Amino acid sequence: MSSNPTNRESFGSKFGIIAATAGSAVGLGNIWRYPYITGENGGAAFIFIYLAIVLVIGIPVMLSEFTIGRRSQLNVFGAFKKLAPGKPWYLIGVMGVAAAFMILAFYTVVAGWTLEYLYQSAINGFKGKSAAELTSMFNSFTGSSFRPLLWYFIFMGFTAAIVMAGVKGGIEKSTKIMMPLLFALLIVLIVRSLFLPGAEKGLSFLFKPDFSKITTSTFLLALGQAFFSLSIGMGTLITYGSYIPKKDNLATTAVSVVITDTLVAVLAGMAIFPAVFAFGIEPASGEGLAFITIPNIFQQMTGGMFFSVAFFILLALAALTSTISVLEVIVAFFVEELKLKRSFATWIATLSVSVLGVFCVLSTSSLAGFKIAGLTIFGLMEFTTANILLPLGGLLIVIFIAWFYGRQNTLNELTNDGTIKARYIPVFMFVIKFIAPLAIAFIFLKGIGIIKI
Ligand code: PFF
Repeated sequence: MSSNPTNRESFGSKFGIIAATAGSAVGLGNIWRYPYITGENGGAAFIFIYLAIVLVIGIPVMLSEFTIGRRSQLNVFGAFKKLAPGKPWYLIGVMGVAAAFMILAFYTVVAGWTLEYLYQSAINGFKGKSAAELTSMFNSFTGSSFRPLLWYFIFMGFTAAIVMAGVKGGIEKSTKIMMPLLFALLIVLIVRSLFLPGAEKGLSFLFKPDFSKITTSTFLLALGQAFFSLSIGMGTLITYGSYIPKKDNLATTAVSVVITDTLVAVLAGMAIFPAVFAFGIEPASGEGLAFITIPNIFQQMTGGMFFSVAFFILLALAALTSTISVLEVIVAFFVEELKLKRSFATWIATLSVSVLGVFCVLSTSSLAGFKIAGLTIFGLMEFTTANILLPLGGLLIVIFIAWFYGRQNTLNELTNDGTIKARYIPVFMFVIKFIAPLAIAFIFLKGIGIIKI
C-alpha cells in the first residue's frame, strides 16, 4: 500500500528543482568518463551522436519519468502501483530500486577516492612525484583496504546526512549551494587550462571530428553514457519528478537539465584536455585520468596545489549531488511502501547498501581475484546497471507511457491539467511510441550480443 501523498514534501523553487535534478545528472560520469570517451571516439563526431541520442532518447525518457513521478506523487515502486493497479508494471520499480542499490554501492567507492585525493592535494602529496610514482600511489591506495573503506563510509555519511534532512531542507538546500560552486570551480579550472601554452592540441583532441572512429559500438557507448549521465532509466527522475510542484513546466525542466548535463560534460573536457596536452601527457582512461594524469599535471603546474584542491572538490561535489539522488530512490521507497520514518529509512538504506559497497571497495584489493563472469563485484555492478538495467528500464518506461498510460493522461500531466501548452505532444508521442523504443531495443540487443551486425 502506498501512503497518502497529501503531506508529501516537494521542492520549493524552480532553481531548487534544476539544482537538485541537474545535480543528480552531473556527476563522475560527466567529469572523467565523458571527456575521455569523446576524445577517443571521434571527438566532435561522437558529440554529434551523443547529442542525437540525448535528443531522441534522453529527453523523451526523462519527460516520461517526470510524468510518472509527478502524476503519482510517489516513489518509483508506488508510482507504477498507483498508475497501473493490478498490473505488473511495478516490476519497473523493483528494477529501479535494485539498480539504485547497485549504483550507489560502486559509485560511492570512486566518490570516496575523490576524498582521499582531496586530502592528498591539500597536504601537497603529489609534489615532485613522477608519473610512475603517481601510478603506484594510486595502485597502493586502491590496493589497500582500510583507507578506501574509511573514505567510502565518510562519503556515505555525507550522503545520508543530506537525505535524512529531507527533500527541501536537505537535498534542495544543499544542491542550491553545491551546483553553483561546482560551476564556479569548473570555470576557474577551464581558464587555467586554456591559458597554458599548447592548450590548443587538447581542444583539437576533444573537438576535431573523426568520422572514421564511428562504429556500431560507438552508438552503444553513447547510449550507455547518455542513460548513466542523465540519471535516467531507473526511476531517480520519477522520484525527483514526484517532488516537482504541479505548476512547473516539466518539458522546460527536462530540457534545462539535459542542457546543463551536456554542458558540464563538454566543459569538463575543456578543463582537462588542454592541460593534459600542454604537459605532453598521454590521455589515460577512466579512473586513471582523474587519479593519475590529473595529479601529474597539477604537480607540474604553477599554483598546482590550489587547482588540485579545486579539482577534487569539484569531483566530490559532483559525486555527492548524484549519490543523494540515488539514495533518495531507496529512502522514498522505504518511507512510502514500508511506512518507515525518514531517519530510520535512511539508516537502513545506507547500511544495507554498504554491505554491497564493502564488497565493491574490496574489489580492488583483497577481493580483486574474486570474479563473476570475468568481472569483479565492482565491475559487475557497473556493467549490470549501465548496460542492462538502465536501458531496459528506459525502454519499459517509454513503452509504459506511450502504450499503456496513453496520450490523454500524459497530455493532462504535461499541460498541468490544461493550464499550459504542450505543442510538442504529437512529436513526443510519436517518438516514445516508435522511435525511442526501437532505438533503445536495437542498441540494447546489439550491446548484449543478441543482434549481430
Ligand atoms: N548521472 C550520474 C553521473 O553522470 O555521474 C550518475 C548517476 C546518478 C546515475 C544517479 C544514475 C542515477 F540514478
